[in-house]
Amino acid sequence: MPAVAVVVLAAGKGTRMKSERAKVLHEAGGLPLLAHVLRAVEAVVSRRDSVWVVVGHQAEVVRELVKPFGAHDVLQRPQLGTGHAVAQALATLPRSVSRLMVLPGDAPLIASGTLAALLAHHSATASTATILSARLENPHGYGRILRRSTGEVESIIEQSALPAERRGMREVNSGMYCFERAPLAGVLGQLGRDNVHREYYLTDAIGLLQRGGGRVSAFVAEDPEEILGVNSRAELAHADALLRRRKAEALMACGVTLYQPETLAIDPDVTVGPETIVERGVELRGATRIGAGCRIGAFSILRNAVLADNVTIRPHCVVLDTRIGSGVNVGPFAHLRDGADIRANARIGNYVEVKKSVVGEGAKAQHLTYLGDATVGRGSNIGAGTITCNYDGVNKNPTAIGDNVFVGSGTELVAPVRVGRGAYIAAGSTVTEDVPADALAIARGRQVNKPGWARTRRQKLVAAKARKEEPAVGVRLANNSGTKKRKEPTRKRRR
Ligand code: UD1
Ligand code: CA
Repeated sequence: MPAVAVVVLAAGKGTRMKSERAKVLHEAGGLPLLAHVLRAVEAVVSRRDSVWVVVGHQAEVVRELVKPFGAHDVLQRPQLGTGHAVAQALATLPRSVSRLMVLPGDAPLIASGTLAALLAHHSATASTATILSARLENPHGYGRILRRSTGEVESIIEQSALPAERRGMREVNSGMYCFERAPLAGVLGQLGRDNVHREYYLTDAIGLLQRGGGRVSAFVAEDPEEILGVNSRAELAHADALLRRRKAEALMACGVTLYQPETLAIDPDVTVGPETIVERGVELRGATRIGAGCRIGAFSILRNAVLADNVTIRPHCVVLDTRIGSGVNVGPFAHLRDGADIRANARIGNYVEVKKSVVGEGAKAQHLTYLGDATVGRGSNIGAGTITCNYDGVNKNPTAIGDNVFVGSGTELVAPVRVGRGAYIAAGSTVTEDVPADALAIARGRQVNKPGWARTRRQKLVAAKARKEEPAVGVRLANNSGTKKRKEPTRKRRR
């Protein structure tokens, strides 16, 4: 086996995106376009260091993306076309490399199986160059494969150079190829810039190799969808929809129920257990892992959330970097974030925010509560409207609540503060000092009732209002002969 290198072209700006951001950095299906390509490549190469990525526009940012894949990068500056890009890579490839696979960084749907098949076809046919082609319903924008009557590939004609009578040609160039290194190197120097973009087209190398006596073949992709390239925002949205659909189909095949799957955004690395139901409009992002038998309510967003089995998330929750134990109920309208840790069978109700806090097994915070930098023991009840005052303007301070504590509604816990196990906090307390175990804490003013006070005040107010409005009536009468019409609000208002 000759040593194979993979060259991924990712230096272009992507003018048609109308963006300052390099095209390959735009995201579809939860990842930058280039990351999809590099993932597909990873599965076909035996060594990560046999991959070279040609960078140029926003080279630094693209390099950062490439790094974790263990691939090399090659700088192409200025960017003078796909042929020029490959020439830059060739100049740095080790001598031992005798064959290369060239891929565009803007075709995120390519599957590793297809790349492996392309490589196998190239070897089996002992070709000088093998193009991955596809037959598209709408081939507009792609280079077309020109074949002889015998079926042999003659050349690739770019869309812009396509004569009107050839526009119907359906077989397109995917921009993915295998080349024998030496012959390719031989023709790259002969490329010209005699085209609308004044660029060195890699596609022209195909015609040159063929005319030079090389064997050029085309391997037709079984699934034409895989070769779709992204050149515009509309194509980005289309690729995103296809990638999302793929993920949704994979989950459904594993026994997950998805309501209106076309409304979901589920990232590639997300896992979901069987018998889980995902309602419409849900986003499952990043490294989210969901157990079996869960239900994720409509329009909830989960990012890096880890859910055990039988968790119910009601609609409209936001769950970020959070762990949730089995049997927990959350929401609707709850916000869990930054390392929240909700233990088994706990309940987090509506309008509750939990940040960097542990909520113990079976504990409850059902309504309108903020728990920040807190620990809540097992079986404790956090009353409606409880707030941990964790921030003093400079530091974040902890609140420690023991097991089986009852925190009355409307309590403020001014951190740092500790509430011992089994303690009881009276509703409306502002707790500034530690509460011992099993104690009752009341931290609020004593109530005073003043009999009749409200009635007396009401009568005073009504009388005062009447006095104020008397003169207004007088003014109206005096002006009656005037020409200007006035509103007559007084009588109505008095009723
Ligand atoms: C290219 C092919 C076309 C094919 C299509 C498939 C050429 C001339 N045309 O057209 O036949 O049907 O892909 O999607 O190759 N790039 C660089 N350096 C450059 C220019 C481009 O690295 O100087 C990179 C881009 O970042 C991109 C890839 O090469 O990832 C393809 O470039 P793009 O401009 O999108 O080519 P297309 O016009 O789509
Ligand atoms: Ca393209």
